Amino acid sequence: MKVIDLRSDTVTLPTATMREAMCQAEVGDDVFREDPTVNRLEKMAAECMGKQAALFVASGTMGNLVCTLTHCARGEEVILGSRSHIFLNEAGGMSALGGIQPHIVENQPDGTMRLEDIESAIRGDDVHWPRTRLICLENTHNYCNGSALSAQYIDSVGALARCHGLSVHLDGARIFNAAVALGVNAKELTRSVDSVIFCFSKGLSAPVGSVVCGPSDFIAEARRTRKVLGGGMRQAGIIAAAGITALEQMVDRLAEDHTNARRLAAGIAQIKGLSIDVRAVQTNIIYFELASDRLSSEQFVARLEKKGIKLLCLGGSSCFRIVTHYGIEAEDVDVTLAALREVIEES
Ligand SMILES: Cc1ncc(COP(=O)(O)O)c(C=O)c1O
Repeated sequence: MKVIDLRSDTVTLPTATMREAMCQAEVGDDVFREDPTVNRLEKMAAECMGKQAALFVASGTMGNLVCTLTHCARGEEVILGSRSHIFLNEAGGMSALGGIQPHIVENQPDGTMRLEDIESAIRGDDVHWPRTRLICLENTHNYCNGSALSAQYIDSVGALARCHGLSVHLDGARIFNAAVALGVNAKELTRSVDSVIFCFSKGLSAPVGSVVCGPSDFIAEARRTRKVLGGGMRQAGIIAAAGITALEQMVDRLAEDHTNARRLAAGIAQIKGLSIDVRAVQTNIIYFELASDRLSSEQFVARLEKKGIKLLCLGGSSCFRIVTHYGIEAEDVDVTLAALREVIEES
């Protein structure tokens, strides 16, 4: 039985081409800037994001942390969304390691924060108050239905930030999902931000790594911050090689994952006992609710797993997440929908 693992796009395995590229990668000591494969990946990533320079890091969490620590000093404040990954799921790194204070603004269901809410969170000049330094956005927005923030929205946050002398950081772990869903070049989504990270190890299927992109002077400082965090890697070209293949071969196919996600959502909407907002599904992330009291969330997950389907239950609630990705085929959508239907009917 094929296991259909829909818990996350981080479960994707490297392609045969990636493994071959890793095997053949020319490498050197990247802390001395002598790894030609890392240098090439950083140049490609910077170009894709329309920025001057880039820095290869171990993970999305490390990329976001490197950016917040580079933008902000101790005691300064970062405005970020109530459902943002940085706030909810990165172990409070900016506070733990940087003495940086998060200032939370409510996320709307589409992943945006209202401009007026952002503006009222910006501190004035008063000796009692922390200084606001940075606004963080997330695109696609994982915990807001995987929604894609438009270039226009990001531009308007950028304009607001500039008005107040602030910087903008974009957690673009899945920026290419956003670009593909919106039918725009990723650069349009990053033109108004000062720094951006994206991940190779999610929908793009590489085994490890993320990248920070921004102006050359910011990246030079970020390189120091990465060293402080112990993130200076040596022959990292072995893993960067898979990232190069990811950029060359895995971006356009994300559209398939979005099609599969929409089909899954439409199918789930037909199953009595499950509830979903189909219109909220724009990319590869789907949230739905178990609306039947004949089955607990734990039983639901366990019975699906017996049928070879893995999904994620959010913190003991009746809300579930499904993520489509490389390795999930159109027929897996049918098998998943059949299994969901059976589990509900058998309860
Ligand atoms: C939106 C977002 N940002 C950042 C991260 C962190 O990435 P990593 O798991 O590589 O640390 C994730 C991980 O799922 C994510 O969904």
